[in-house]
Amino acid sequence: MTETINILNAKILLKEGLFEGGIHICLGKIKKIGRKTNLPKAEKNINAKGLIALPGLIDSHVHLRDLNFSYKEDFYTGTCAASAGGFTTVLDMPNTSPPTDSVEKLKEKIELAKGKIIVNVGFHALPPKNPEEIDEMVKLGVKSFKLYFNLFKDEDLKSSMLKETLRRSALLNIPLTIHGEDGEKINKIKTLLLKKGKTDLFSFLKAHSKEIEVSGIKKALNLIKKEINNGKAYFCHVSTLKSLNEIKKNGFLVEVTPHHLFLTKEKLLKLRGLALTLPPLRSRVEAEALWRKTVKSFVDVIASDHAPHKIEEKLRENYWEVSPGIPGLETTLPLLLTKVNQGEISLQKLVELLAYNPSRIFNLKFKGELREGFDGDI
Ligand code: DOR
Ligand code: ZN
Ligand code: ZN
Repeated sequence: MTETINILNAKILLKEGLFEGGIHICLGKIKKIGRKTNLPKAEKNINAKGLIALPGLIDSHVHLRDLNFSYKEDFYTGTCAASAGGFTTVLDMPNTSPPTDSVEKLKEKIELAKGKIIVNVGFHALPPKNPEEIDEMVKLGVKSFKLYFNLFKDEDLKSSMLKETLRRSALLNIPLTIHGEDGEKINKIKTLLLKKGKTDLFSFLKAHSKEIEVSGIKKALNLIKKEINNGKAYFCHVSTLKSLNEIKKNGFLVEVTPHHLFLTKEKLLKLRGLALTLPPLRSRVEAEALWRKTVKSFVDVIASDHAPHKIEEKLRENYWEVSPGIPGLETTLPLLLTKVNQGEISLQKLVELLAYNPSRIFNLKFKGELREGFDGDI
């Protein structure tokens, strides 16, 4: 490995703005940022004239699959996509097969990933059956506990296991990441529709309406406010203005995805299963409202929710059997840079949403910023 590298003649995006100069990296750490003449000599020099150096981006919401889902994606192909898309750190979701829901499964995943990843990978986990394991999972590096409210019945919200997860995460300062759709209502509507033999797209969308998202988010907010008073809750892929306002009113964190910002229901009607994701794509009015909120700092993070599947799994006749999810690791940054070029958002704001904020929320030390002493993720 080259021990020292100089990146020269770059425009470097610092917290304070763009700075023309160079970055000296030693053993993977940023040792010095300064004018060319002030930098120590290095074994390797990279001339970055005409280029902007951004902090390596962080994607807080990625489904890297692998394990029994390696036919969709694995740690190698997924992290190659991340690297191609400008992400030097990704946080992997736990709904794999088998799921990341115990110390043992987490250790297995970490071991498996070690030999295959080409960018930094951190792991979200599901609440373990035995809450005693939470502390150990956090010691092993878990970045959040993910709660799929879309899979909870109302009865599940009373479980002591769930309450214990909330309590311990708050104590350990680990965020809860939340899929906020109302599982109880989804199930009721789905059962009714299936009884009538309904398997079309419009029926599917009835079970995943805006109202059902808002309802799930309200249930999550009520539970969190009742059980813990200082917890960090991060709501994934918020797709409606009303959901966003509810979350912000209560002081919690909002993530939006590029597909909910830039694609709409019209695309879903055209591309059918290929554009099916959960929560589903909404109207143009919703997408534009989310974008305005993003630009005005009411959104904390943009994450891809990269969720690849096999083409056959996306194009089924029966919409209850279509695998929801859209891949986004390679398209997120280009789409957002286009918005920068169009003058709709500043580069600084983009880096805040894709690097500074995720590093702060998920406690990723020495990441998310170009600064002396930080990791050389560029
Ligand atoms: O669209 C989605 N796809 N939403 C989820 O919550 C899960 C994800 C996946 O794993 O494919
Ligand atoms: Zn989700
Ligand atoms: Zn997801």
